Amino acid sequence: MVNQDVYILGIESSCDDTSAAVSHNSTILSNIVASQEVHRKYGGVVPELASRSHQANIVQVVQLALQSANIQKNQLSAIAFTRGPGLLGSLMVGTSFAKSMAFALNIPLIDVNHIQAHVLAHFIDGSNIEHNEKPTFPFLCLTVSGGHTQIMKINSFYDFEIIGSTIDDAAGEAFDKVAKMLGLPYPGGAVIDQLAKEGDPKRFPFSIAKVNDYNFSFSGLKTSVLYFIQKEVAKNEHFIAENLHDICASFQHTAVTSLLQKLVLAAKAENIQHIALAGGVSANSYLREQLRQTAQQHNWTIFIPKMEYCTDNAAMIAMAGYYKYLNGDFASQDIAAVARF
Ligand code: KG4
Ligand code: ZN
Repeated sequence: MVNQDVYILGIESSCDDTSAAVSHNSTILSNIVASQEVHRKYGGVVPELASRSHQANIVQVVQLALQSANIQKNQLSAIAFTRGPGLLGSLMVGTSFAKSMAFALNIPLIDVNHIQAHVLAHFIDGSNIEHNEKPTFPFLCLTVSGGHTQIMKINSFYDFEIIGSTIDDAAGEAFDKVAKMLGLPYPGGAVIDQLAKEGDPKRFPFSIAKVNDYNFSFSGLKTSVLYFIQKEVAKNEHFIAENLHDICASFQHTAVTSLLQKLVLAAKAENIQHIALAGGVSANSYLREQLRQTAQQHNWTIFIPKMEYCTDNAAMIAMAGYYKYLNGDFASQDIAAVARF
């Protein structure tokens, strides 16, 4: 029988957010996120600056996570950290910190796959905003973020099957790149979401590449928006400003429709009605609204995590760590970060 009181310190540093969280079994006691503002002026994440900011922030972020959880270091059962995928220099900061702290406290060290952690955020108590239930196995999860776009079939806490993924850009990357073309600040996903609320999603029919099976492609959509804008701006230099809401709404409509079409196909083929959303782009209000409508049509039960568990956070790392802890799946001190699996 497993210890009834498992306290995990989760550490996440895969991209530009330094985060630490403390969990007690499947409850999150604290979840601290320090977002790095330094990248804004460059219009994207600068890896070297991200790594340096993680170094500057990590001690304080971990201290704050322990303090707000009201937990002492010696109460921790294990330390879980993001091993990858992500930016290598960033991952190395969290990895070295977690290794040193686990070694000093003489407690187990647990490596976590960042994408699997996005999925396991659904098992955090109170995470789901749709209802009180947690998904049952097997379920499908559409994971959409700045770095990944996948449909996964989740067979158990430990068995993740990728059944579709992007062949080029990630969905969030497409949002961010289109935002940049429109002169909007980085990261642009949430800004497009806001502007699109007052736009016509059917005004501009942007094209999206057709790809096989349950895979996605967003690079062609991005280029389609770019060429369209260039053509229109040559005729009217104020075109973007005059049509910003409609451009955002039309792009967003095309991207979201493509995501949901593939999800419907996958759900039918797998005969699965429990459908979850994960990753930063799942914060998108149009995606959520369209998913709810699709769920009604297909009799799906859907799972959407709270905002703070959608974007990068250490609570999901602690949760993934908790299930690995229950399974006795620990890492050794010679483990290293990996940018790609
Ligand atoms: O999961 P996440 O925080 O980090 C990665 O692992 O990539 O996702 C960040 C991505 C960015 O591309 C950001 O623009 C996008 O999520 N995002 C959104 C929204 N909020 C964040 N995209 C569309 N609509 C939103 N409301
Ligand atoms: Zn992520």
